[in-house]
Amino acid sequence: MASSILMFICLVVITMVEKGVCNDLREICVGEETALNCDQLDHATKNHSYLELVWIVTDLKNPGDTKLISYCGKDPNNCSLLSSLNESCFAQRIQVRTLSRGSIYVRQLWKNDALSFSCRLFLQGDKRPLITSVNHLTVTCLSLSTGQDVNLSQASGENRISSETVKDKWWYILQGNGGEKKMAYCNGTKCSSILCSEYKTRMEINGLSLILKKVQLADEGLRVQCKIWRKNDAAPLLFNVLLKHVSANPRTGQSLSFYQRRWSSLSPLIPPL
Ligand SMILES: *[C@@H]1O[C@H](CO)[C@@H](O)[C@H](O)[C@H]1NC(C)=O
Ligand SMILES: *[C@@H]1O[C@H](CO)[C@@H](O)[C@H](O)[C@H]1NC(C)=O
Ligand SMILES: *[C@@H]1O[C@H](CO)[C@@H](O)[C@H](O)[C@H]1NC(C)=O
Ligand SMILES: *[C@@H]1O[C@H](CO)[C@@H](O)[C@H](O)[C@H]1NC(C)=O
Ligand SMILES: *[C@@H]1O[C@H](CO)[C@@H](O)[C@H](O)[C@H]1NC(C)=O
Repeated sequence: MASSILMFICLVVITMVEKGVCNDLREICVGEETALNCDQLDHATKNHSYLELVWIVTDLKNPGDTKLISYCGKDPNNCSLLSSLNESCFAQRIQVRTLSRGSIYVRQLWKNDALSFSCRLFLQGDKRPLITSVNHLTVTCLSLSTGQDVNLSQASGENRISSETVKDKWWYILQGNGGEKKMAYCNGTKCSSILCSEYKTRMEINGLSLILKKVQLADEGLRVQCKIWRKNDAAPLLFNVLLKHVSANPRTGQSLSFYQRRWSSLSPLIPPL
């Protein structure tokens, strides 16, 4: 889709997760529209204290990059988008529509992008607004049918990082309990074999790419993460892929479903390549 943009964002991405700055990151699929509501607006209109509200977007990686998205005056059902958003660094990164009741619909277009959206609700007489914030991390979501092979390097976009700059690269499966299973380790030129016995027959290293073979229904919900440490950069880059939908291909078929989650930061012991 937005591959040149992607190239750029790959150089940016998240470290806040590691530092616990934004604990409440919501995972959002790239390209999927999400409605955001301004808390307490109903209450404030009912008790006649509502004055006006704005929505603001902030780049979590560069908190100085912040921009007004929309403004609602007297009537919170009649809000306007600010055209200056189109001339900002968010122009090709998010698409926004306004909704009734001060809400907005947001679609995020970049992979592995971390943005914060906040509503500032101003009340009559009060100088300080009420603030509702939500932090979004975009992940690549896939819809697959059973039996397909998935090139996870391609899906995640991790292969856009030039191999000369890669110091260490780890592949993980993220688990529901916040844990992670190590799948493979790579340096700039070579990868280990699949480290997790459970996936030895399901995954494969091909060159510097990780391939998930013959997708099963049970893979729905699977979260795979590639974490890359670059030379001269302490913070790792994260690339996340979610197998959002797996549908049965009539010629194969299983049942069951499991769910995966989260990431953590420590650099693990490096296996032999
Ligand atoms: C009206 O509602 C808002 C939002 O819940 C609240 O912050 C504010 O204190 C209320 N004002 C009055 C006068 O009740
Ligand atoms: C909505 O707001 C705009 C500008 O704020 C105003 O020009 C327009 O008349 C309003 N529309 C309605 C239906 O109130
Ligand atoms: C921003 O640009 C998009 C696409 O070009 C356009 O559809 C939208 O109306 C513009 N928004 C504003 C507020 O100018
Ligand atoms: C996986 O995708 C990457 C990036 O597009 C590509 O370079 C690589 O050759 C692919 N690997 C396989 C086995 O298809
Ligand atoms: C990657 O590991 C292999 C095997 O240990 C080694 O031969 C190679 O020099 C390493 N490459 C880099 C760029 O460190």
